[in-house]
Amino acid sequence: MDLTKKEIIELLKSDGASLFMEADLVRKKYVKDEVHLRGLIEFSNVCKRNCAYCGLQNKNKNIKRYRLSEDEIIDHAKIGASLGYKTVVLQSGEDDYFNQKRLCSIIEKIKEFDLAITLSVGERTKEDYRAFKMSGADRFLLRIETTDENLYKSLHPNMDFNNRKKCLYNLKELGYETGTGSLVGLLNQTIESFADDILFFKELDADMVGIGPFIPHPDTPLRGELNKNNFDMALKVMAITRLVLPDINIPATTAMETINPNGRIIALKSGANVVMPNLTDISYRKNYEIYPNKACINEDAIKCRKCIEGKILSINRTLSNSKGFRNRAK
Ligand code: 5AD
Ligand code: FES
Repeated sequence: MDLTKKEIIELLKSDGASLFMEADLVRKKYVKDEVHLRGLIEFSNVCKRNCAYCGLQNKNKNIKRYRLSEDEIIDHAKIGASLGYKTVVLQSGEDDYFNQKRLCSIIEKIKEFDLAITLSVGERTKEDYRAFKMSGADRFLLRIETTDENLYKSLHPNMDFNNRKKCLYNLKELGYETGTGSLVGLLNQTIESFADDILFFKELDADMVGIGPFIPHPDTPLRGELNKNNFDMALKVMAITRLVLPDINIPATTAMETINPNGRIIALKSGANVVMPNLTDISYRKNYEIYPNKACINEDAIKCRKCIEGKILSINRTLSNSKGFRNRAK
């Protein structure tokens, strides 16, 4: 459905009740009742960037940095396949150790398990993106974070908003299923800018959109009180995204679960159709602290798989058996 900026702003200002119901109906009509699971492997928390909100930022000396070896990453993917996942998401900080050659080798080995692969490794050259794709990567996640350029600038030292956009268009052009998304609840973020975020997702024709409430991390410049209202606003941004891009994949994000104990289920009933349970070995998981008190920090891969399955079945949804690519509405 096409919505004007004005209409989107109206919806963002509403209490959300009818919006959530409508988004749930649109979800059901276009992507049915099945929920796609993507097993998340957080393979390195080393990061060269200093995004103001993120606990993995380079300047944070209070976390223990780790890198999984190639064999460990492949073992994680193997466990994912044995637990029935059809997709693994390889996520890391922006870690140049994992150069083109190393990542391509990992991708090629994981493809032997017949898994779809989503990469979430940040901004790279088009040549890198092309090489990853040739090696078998299927999808890529790169959140725009915010489309408010001034805010973007203030949060991302030495980064370039236009380059981030360019990366997203490069990914699209190379044939990736391209995911983006945004944070909701940063200081100075306006309702107008949320509307612009949604219009950007539409303009890009994003195949996946992940929306998360901002959760302050104590070891970052944005430390401070958690604003619980961010949950409702993030849910509204997500639900409107379902209306404007009815056939895409939308995750119920871990950040939503982190600020609301039932967050993912609420999201699944308000437009979401994907969950990304964590596959990372718990010995590493606690060091991948993008934000504090992340959900599932002490649960291992098997536990998360069982837990999430129970939750999904309890709301009369089903588990998908397919790789869960976007099925375009005619
Ligand atoms: N709160 C919520 N989400 C965050 N992210 C990074 N830091 C935070 C935070 N403090 C999100 C970013 C990034 C994704 C991997 O995690 O949107 O793209
Ligand atoms: Fe990890 Fe529920 S999904 S404990």
